Amino acid sequence: MAKRDWSAIEGLEQQRLDTLFAADPERVSLLSLDVAGIHFDWSKTHLTAEAIDAFVRLAGDSGLADKRDALFAGETVNVTESRAAEHTAERGEGAPDSVARAQGFHARMRALIDAIEAEALGPVRHILHVGIGGSALGPDLLVDALGRDSDRYDVAIVSNVDGVALEEAFARFDPQATLLVVASKTFTTTETMLNANSAISWMRHGGVADPYGKVVALTASPDKAVEWGVDETRVLPFSESVGGRYSLWSSIGFPAALGLGWDVFEEMLEGAAEMDRHFRFGDFGANAPVLAAFADLYYTQARGCETRAVFAYDERLRLLPDYLQQLEMESNGKGVTAEGEPLDRPSAPITWGGVGTDAQHAVFQLLHQGTHLVPVEFVAVTEPGDALNPDHHRQLLLNAFAQGAALMKGRENDDAARAYSGDRPSSTLLLDTLDPRTLGALIAFYEHRVFVSAVLLGINPFDQFGVELGKEMAKAAGAAAEGGELDFDASTNDLIKRAFG
Ligand code: F6P
Repeated sequence: MAKRDWSAIEGLEQQRLDTLFAADPERVSLLSLDVAGIHFDWSKTHLTAEAIDAFVRLAGDSGLADKRDALFAGETVNVTESRAAEHTAERGEGAPDSVARAQGFHARMRALIDAIEAEALGPVRHILHVGIGGSALGPDLLVDALGRDSDRYDVAIVSNVDGVALEEAFARFDPQATLLVVASKTFTTTETMLNANSAISWMRHGGVADPYGKVVALTASPDKAVEWGVDETRVLPFSESVGGRYSLWSSIGFPAALGLGWDVFEEMLEGAAEMDRHFRFGDFGANAPVLAAFADLYYTQARGCETRAVFAYDERLRLLPDYLQQLEMESNGKGVTAEGEPLDRPSAPITWGGVGTDAQHAVFQLLHQGTHLVPVEFVAVTEPGDALNPDHHRQLLLNAFAQGAALMKGRENDDAARAYSGDRPSSTLLLDTLDPRTLGALIAFYEHRVFVSAVLLGINPFDQFGVELGKEMAKAAGAAAEGGELDFDASTNDLIKRAFG
């Protein structure tokens, strides 16, 4: 990889936010955009016209335009695994063959949903979805955000191998009215397969004569699902070139499509496609995912920020920070470039966050007065999700806006313990309303933002080799716990002995 020259970014004059606002009455319009029902405001970040120009030049040197085209054309952008990354094709934006294949898989999913709704599998009231990581976080976010008023099905998304998680679902559900959905791209993930087997036993003990007859598999490895026991007609495949953390648009979105209705799922795809087109065809200087990535990179590369925090000021989006942790950290938490050379600069920041206003009373102390500079992102929705006294939603939004203002403004005080330095950056994403379209657009925005950061850093965002070692060692630990050789370090050997004798 040709070495990127970050000197223009690192050399940017560091001005306080209040100085930037005072110097430019047009700052808010310069640094805001409206796309797909979402208002983006980066004016309270330290981005300036000069910084954006420098980043646009760096994007040019990094080949961002060509790489963006390659992504949508279904070329091999995941170079370490020699495959494309075709999540946009699921939304109808990609190479014609890939779009056609995705639509074929969607049609199959829809037909099965119609059949389930027509009770072809018997009465179904509960959907028990087992999957982990990208095979759980997306569906969970969708169902939690959009399904609160839905009375179609009860949905439980169980990911943890801790049986406590599965037992909670068993306690809620009637085995005879449960559809078991096993979601795993590889169909080999230990946690998911153990949960799936336990769910089968629970159904059998609950009087279901043929539990496998009530299973739907969501996978890119259909043969393995059939081998495990699922009838081919209830295997919903998706393409190998759709990465796990980018897969909620594929059959992995099945619990949302069944639980919320096909129309909802389709609208979500359309919202995402609108963001795809904005990203694909928009100039870098007026492109939401690109500008957001520039802000992210400014803070990690020029200001040494190690984390970024996302606060959903909307209960319906409470799972968004968890979802983004996988998307951002599994994609861009890498120490080498796509060519395998050591990365000579920080990779992705640590993504963390929570829900406002709760977080204000728990972690905002550090954001206002701690020694770490943490860029904060507020995600809020103009239209309320509740029908209570309008004060609830007014308070929610006013708090989000006030926190951004307070972080930036700060306050002097002779007593240092009571002083706020201010000049702490934040961005705000304000959705007009929370519906399938805006949520689809929001998630697609984050995907493309990750991609842009990866291109400028020279990282491959589509592999995740860093998760493998722990999986292998867990298997070896399992063998040791069953009487095999204990040849870990002394601490790990001791822990295994204590727990398993
Ligand atoms: O361990 C990481 C990971 O491979 C993720 O990338 C993926 O989303 C998750 O595990 C689940 O994998 P699968 O869908 O194959 O079960």
